[in-house]
Amino acid sequence: MKKMGCNEIRKAFSDFFESKEHYIGKSSSLIPKNDKSLLLINSGMAPLKNYFSGVEVPPKNRMSTVQKCIRTGDIENVGKTARHGTFFEMMGNFSFGDYFKEDAIKWAWEFVTEHLHIPEEKIWVTVYLDDDEARDLWLKHTSIPAERIVRLGKDDNFWEIGLGPCGPCSEMYYDRGEEYGCGSPDCKPGCDCDRYLEFWNLVFTQFDRQEDGSYPALEHKNIDTGMGLERMGCIMQDVDNIFEVDTIRAIIDEIEKISGVKYGEDHNKDVSIRIITDHIRATSFMIA
Ligand code: SER
Repeated sequence: MKKMGCNEIRKAFSDFFESKEHYIGKSSSLIPKNDKSLLLINSGMAPLKNYFSGVEVPPKNRMSTVQKCIRTGDIENVGKTARHGTFFEMMGNFSFGDYFKEDAIKWAWEFVTEHLHIPEEKIWVTVYLDDDEARDLWLKHTSIPAERIVRLGKDDNFWEIGLGPCGPCSEMYYDRGEEYGCGSPDCKPGCDCDRYLEFWNLVFTQFDRQEDGSYPALEHKNIDTGMGLERMGCIMQDVDNIFEVDTIRAIIDEIEKISGVKYGEDHNKDVSIRIITDHIRATSFMIA
């Protein structure tokens, strides 16, 4: 696996989906427009909800973006785990009534194995409980063996946030090895420890969550995928956590200079430095 900087990964993602005839859109502001169900943009799909529901016409029925996101729900984990940040960039490809599960799965596999050159044996996949269709597509179009496909429930494999477009999902994980694991015999994708790192969520957006809690079907089926840039950087650069990737590490270095505290010598101080790093990024982008 070749080392890749975060700027290279971002570009490789956009170039790949451009080659698959996607319109390459810009990141929207972190402040949602006309969406009272969200305080801040938390995913690539959030600013595109009206394209999924058909209220607005997209520039093209397949699109790709790298979206700035804030996710406050994970704030207590920031700095403590390898993978959580309140601010991150989400690379995504979207289909508005165009391609569905089959192409989404095929392309995800192609990008990860042929463009990022992630070793196939390190990849695990999850599918929603009874989504046999997704499981069969993974088996048919990729070399992933059945024993590395795990079924998970609504908490992990059903994407919904606020109201509107939502649906079951299938996630790709990278096995970082036993040294990152919790040692439990049940440790597998979905475990809270840092061994299996979820890096790409493929959502099969087909329902429209209403205020009354119902889930009517959307007029057409869609795709919404999201890959965390910093998590992919962590994998491609083989560093311990998302704050040590090439584009973020400079903030840690600056905090060391200002505080006089050395990173990497004391666990609790490292957690604090990572929290400060995260909050500097999040507040800078929110202000901007
Ligand atoms: N909406 C999904 C997520 O944010 C996939 O993009 O994980």
